[in-house]
Amino acid sequence: MEQSAPFYVVGNWKSNKTVSEAVVWFQDFEALWKKNPVDPRKVKVILCPGFIHLTTLHSLIELAKIPLALGTQNISPFPNGAYTGEISSFMIKDMAVFTLIGHSERRKHFGEDEKILAEKVSRAKEAGLEPIYCVQDEHAAIPESCTFVAYEPVWAVGTGKPDTADNANRVAKALKSLAKTPITIIYGGSVTADNVTSYVQTTDIGGVLPGGASLTAQAFHGLIIHAAESTV
Ligand code: PGA
Repeated sequence: MEQSAPFYVVGNWKSNKTVSEAVVWFQDFEALWKKNPVDPRKVKVILCPGFIHLTTLHSLIELAKIPLALGTQNISPFPNGAYTGEISSFMIKDMAVFTLIGHSERRKHFGEDEKILAEKVSRAKEAGLEPIYCVQDEHAAIPESCTFVAYEPVWAVGTGKPDTADNANRVAKALKSLAKTPITIIYGGSVTADNVTSYVQTTDIGGVLPGGASLTAQAFHGLIIHAAESTV
């Protein structure tokens, strides 16, 4: 990781949890955090739950006063208006700070291509959200305005077969060398408390994007603690 910048841990709940399950997760996480907090200058924690959880989690975070930022897993390519069923960036900007854009599951199951992803990036930026633009390899096109990029090889997502820290670092380096401005690269794909240290210890990976390992407060907190312990 880069010196002085915090290491990012971005949890992605995907399509999981009822509202009451989300509340229980938060209560567990709050208790673990308060017993064993982490300096946000070392590790910055972001959680991307489903849209339905944003309001509840935002209120709970305010009450608990813990440094947990919210992001979304997706965003509409359209602004506010007559787009039935869509969630626009402007609708959620009071609660979320980040949004994933172009996750491999969106590209695969919803046919999202670069044209639509570019629209999503524009809408996110207009509302003041920070896009976390997901790509699968070092050859992917990245919209110029994106300074936060997730490398998540599709074969490593949800498979229990993570990319090696060495290879992920090589890809991170390549992506950085192609960017016109400084960018942060995070790695996603079967990251757990057991392997997060290897990514923290690289030169060019600035964070991780755990999916499965964010689903229980215990696993997520454990991963954050391991990340913090391995930062210098
Ligand atoms: P996973 O998901 O940690 O369950 O592999 C990663 C991702 O969503 O990129």
